[in-house]
Amino acid sequence: MYLAKTENLVFEYPDGTRALDSVSLEIREGEFVGVLGNNGSGKTTLAKCLAGLLKPTSGLVLIKGRDIKRYRRGELVRIIGYISQDVNTQLLNVSVLEEILFTPRILNVGEDLIKDRLDEILSQLEIGREILEKPVLSLPRHIKLRVLLASYLLAGTKNFIVDEPTTGQDWYNSIKFVEFLRKLRENGATVILITHDVEILSKYSERVILMNSGRVVADGEAREILCDLELLRENSLLPTYTAQLAKEISIDNCVLTPEELVRILSFKSLHPNY
Ligand SMILES: Nc1ncnc2c1ncn2[C@@H]1O[C@H](COP(=O)(O)OP(=O)(O)O)[C@@H](O)[C@H]1O
Ligand SMILES: [Mg+2]
Repeated sequence: MYLAKTENLVFEYPDGTRALDSVSLEIREGEFVGVLGNNGSGKTTLAKCLAGLLKPTSGLVLIKGRDIKRYRRGELVRIIGYISQDVNTQLLNVSVLEEILFTPRILNVGEDLIKDRLDEILSQLEIGREILEKPVLSLPRHIKLRVLLASYLLAGTKNFIVDEPTTGQDWYNSIKFVEFLRKLRENGATVILITHDVEILSKYSERVILMNSGRVVADGEAREILCDLELLRENSLLPTYTAQLAKEISIDNCVLTPEELVRILSFKSLHPNY
């Protein structure tokens, strides 16, 4: 069963920019999929179409088999939560707690249920109680992302599209946030990670959808796409640092992460003639 499907999806902004050009794809339920592409390739526009925030110029977006136009906003938010790359534009200028309670209250989640689940969600996302009264806009970006995620979780949202969560983040906090997504996925969520970060995708994603100029140029197993140095170059993307290093030292195997490189090097040192 698929969560989302697009058929010949075209999106044009009012100034005539065609940001999506006949995009047809399927996102299966429960998968962790990366949408990769250079700046301006149409990733955010695609994410917003899948979340029902932009209406297609032509073509279809289906969510669980039903035209997205036929969903009420509240219904859709329970199915797919979108976390914007411009996180500040998505936040209300209020305290962390008010921000977290906003979506569940809009969706009429009962106060008892909110009370029951709040503590669990705060600890799941490592949001300390001491920041609950702080203005959300004063916090670092990685905490703002967690606050939005907490609000969706408390509202009962099941699947997530997260747009460039690692941009401008240090590696530690990037990994930490994507680990939260990985755990959600382990518990059944579909995660669509929008990014130009090949390092993160090589670590977390099984499938990659590669975009360029509003089109899907490749869609398949993450390793296959991330190891295709030619394909990456054609789409103005660099391979992972480890893949670049492996190439420099004439290792022909597909090597994406430091762990893989260590494995290959130790194998080679044990079997020099292999
Ligand atoms: N509000 C807008 N008005 C006009 N053009 C836009 C707007 N937002 C994005 N675009 C254009 O649409 C294309 C795709 O943008 P976007 O979906 O933001 O790509 P990405 O997220 O991959 O960087 C780009 O050419 C971009 O300049
Ligand atoms: Mg974008």
